[in-house]
Amino acid sequence: MSYNMDLYRIDLSRIENMSHGRSTSFQGVHQRAIILVLVGLFAVQTALTWTSSTSVAPGRGSLSTQALIGRQLYQDHNCTACHQLYGLGGYMGPDLTNVTRAQGKGPDYARGIILHGTQLMPAQQVTPAEAGHLVAYLDAWASSGTYPIRSFDLTPWGTYLQMNDDARD
Ligand code: HEC
Repeated sequence: MSYNMDLYRIDLSRIENMSHGRSTSFQGVHQRAIILVLVGLFAVQTALTWTSSTSVAPGRGSLSTQALIGRQLYQDHNCTACHQLYGLGGYMGPDLTNVTRAQGKGPDYARGIILHGTQLMPAQQVTPAEAGHLVAYLDAWASSGTYPIRSFDLTPWGTYLQMNDDARD
């Protein structure tokens, strides 16, 4: 196989002439300095992004033993047929992501509704202990973030800092 190398050949002598002409000039030095600064900034931003935005507070969003039992109950009772977590699920009932921490609601409110139901939600046939496990599960979701996201703070270099406490109430 033979390629027509002329297509790819670069006229090196012309480039050398160009760089020789410029390397001592004011402009050439500045261009190099600007590129060096940009490369440096890119390296700094990469380092910041990889170290700060991937660090998560310990224990955040993790499931306790109670919450793990609650997760099983949530599945067994098919709560997700009517409820959403982070917007995903059925739409007969409200989103439960922050119900245990939303203003005017909370763990007792959630436990009461799970145990006794409302005119719109059938009481879930669970024991008080099981209702507590379900609430622990819902609270693990609440600790993981806010839904819907309304506003959040960014670091000066553009990575995620924190979500504001504006849970749906
Ligand atoms: C048949 C559909 C249905 C199922 C299944 C269901 N729910 Fe509900 N749920 C509702 C509806 C509808 C409401 C709204 C009740 C109202 O406003 O009176 C509700 C309300 C709630 C609330 C209060 C939410 C709020 O923000 O006020 C909680 C907590 C809750 N349900 C938990 C659960 C859990 C946990 C399960 C599973 C064990 C479950 N629900 C199963 C329909 C359902």
